[in-house]
Amino acid sequence: MTAPVRELLGVDIPVVAFSHSRAVVAAVSLAGGLGMFGAARFDPDELDEHLGWIDSQVGGRPYGVDVVMAASHVGGDTDDKAALRAALPPENRAFVARLRERFAIPPLSEDRRGREHLTGTHARARRQVEVALAHPARLLVSALGPLPQDVARRAHSSGRLVGGLCGSAEQARAHVEAGADLVVAQGTEAGGHTGELATLVLVPEVVDAVVPVPVLAAGGIACGRQMAAALALGAAGVWTGSMWLVTEESDVDPVVREKLLAARARDAVRSRCSTGKPVRQLRTPWVEAWEEPDAPRPLPMPLQELLVYDAVKAIAEHRVVALMGTPVGQVVGSLHHVRAARDVLHEMIDECERTLDALCETPMP
Ligand SMILES: Cc1cc2nc3c(=O)[nH]c(=O)nc-3n(C[C@H](O)[C@H](O)[C@H](O)COP(=O)(O)O)c2cc1C
Repeated sequence: MTAPVRELLGVDIPVVAFSHSRAVVAAVSLAGGLGMFGAARFDPDELDEHLGWIDSQVGGRPYGVDVVMAASHVGGDTDDKAALRAALPPENRAFVARLRERFAIPPLSEDRRGREHLTGTHARARRQVEVALAHPARLLVSALGPLPQDVARRAHSSGRLVGGLCGSAEQARAHVEAGADLVVAQGTEAGGHTGELATLVLVPEVVDAVVPVPVLAAGGIACGRQMAAALALGAAGVWTGSMWLVTEESDVDPVVREKLLAARARDAVRSRCSTGKPVRQLRTPWVEAWEEPDAPRPLPMPLQELLVYDAVKAIAEHRVVALMGTPVGQVVGSLHHVRAARDVLHEMIDECERTLDALCETPMP
């Protein structure tokens, strides 16, 4: 059932591993899956360096690059941070200033200020796409909206595949209309930007909506039993994220890693406080503060990131331990050990195979 997607991606194992850690991406691609490098956090020169490193490691094995191109955000496609900053309401600024005082967050170093990413804007993502297209990335995927048709065309004409993450059948159809070769159906359990439908409901809906386009299931998949369930829903493979945060190759901060290892499923909460769109992330006092009665509604993308960027970066820079967090999905409750990415991948596949064998031998109840 997974052969077509394995053939399409050029992999032995139908598991895609999303990560911002280049070492995870390389390890998974080398181990037979597909490492997917998240570009969102990186400026073009940084991205170029990371992809060059991945190229040097993977020996021609396929990997992919993921960009965030939001179908909807405010401000048009401008890089003019001054103009966008002028649109930040005083009451929202005042709330952030109060939080900084309440949590004693020191100022961000001067040389790190004003480097907001404007996540989701096409202007930023297009620069990342240019870098990706200069490397032999096999798959280009966009989150929060389809790739523009000119980008999909250029990717195709250079022999690559394109895809998109979706949280509904309508979004899945939009990706396919824009030229996607595969669709990632990502349920609400997932870490990162995530919708409201659960994976168990979403995957069959998306599979039916875009047949014969292959669908990868994402959200809440971190072991072989969950992978087997995804295949039973009609997925051709799985797309995973959270589980790689606690691998040996992950560059997640050690403080955050300890929090992840100790967290339970319900500690992964959905909040708009980081980017303005719902992101499932580790619960921290900072995230909780945005749910308090005096908190303003988070601003639309990309204004919320602009509003909180310096404070969030200062939390990391000054290691304000209580507030340090990360996007992560509900599977965080099952992540208890740090292991090599290769071992994690192979254990997942072994468990999936055992599960499928056992199910085949089980008579209908
Ligand atoms: C730390 C983290 C950051 C993420 N950032 C992005 C991103 O930039 N772009 C994207 O398409 N998905 C992003 N995601 C979502 C993943 O691509 C993936 O869909 C999700 O992790 C799958 O669900 P799981 O976390 O339950 O495995 C992120 C996930 C995590 C855990």
